Amino acid sequence: MKKTIVNGQEFKCYITHSKIKKRVVELAKAINKEYEGRTPLFIPVLNGSFMFASDLLKNVSIQSNVSFIKIQSYDGMKSSGKTKELIGLDHSIEGRDIIIVEDIIDTGLTMEQLLKAVNKLKPASVKVATLLFKRECLQKPIEPDYVGFEIPGRFVVGYGLDFDGYGRNLKHIYKAVLE
Ligand code: IMP
Repeated sequence: MKKTIVNGQEFKCYITHSKIKKRVVELAKAINKEYEGRTPLFIPVLNGSFMFASDLLKNVSIQSNVSFIKIQSYDGMKSSGKTKELIGLDHSIEGRDIIIVEDIIDTGLTMEQLLKAVNKLKPASVKVATLLFKRECLQKPIEPDYVGFEIPGRFVVGYGLDFDGYGRNLKHIYKAVLE
């Protein structure tokens, strides 16, 4: 199996690019169906979701808007739980159907804070699309609406996800060999 070194740590290929793309098309189709006749506002969370958002949105055929935002960054291989204010929002959320686009939900702390911040701005509805979901790591009652892959609580990198800032460019998703 394909291996790679990211920031001095060994990772092995876990979810191939073609498998990711196939699944992302399925998620986009589900969104197209559910939001038919509506105009959702996609809010992808940078930096991690840039590849997922790009592939997802290429397959979204309904009318929509997109506003990338930035929130926390991840500290090493453990979730810090510390989140910052959401920045970069350039569309009004009030009365809109919001779809938050995330790379991964781990403890759920980030998503909980994000949902709180978004809900304060009075959207008509809020749904969450996440490429990866580590259900076994969840510490908050978060139930994402669109999930690419449920994965065990292993550290992963690639397809937008980083390890201390490295590895976001990798087209496949890799998992840590040793932790
Ligand atoms: P949470 O708040 O614990 O759910 O973590 C959310 C954020 O932590 C994600 O948006 C990622 O940036 C980061 N994260 C969590 N797990 C991983 C991982 O396995 N690899 C890379 N980043 C991760």
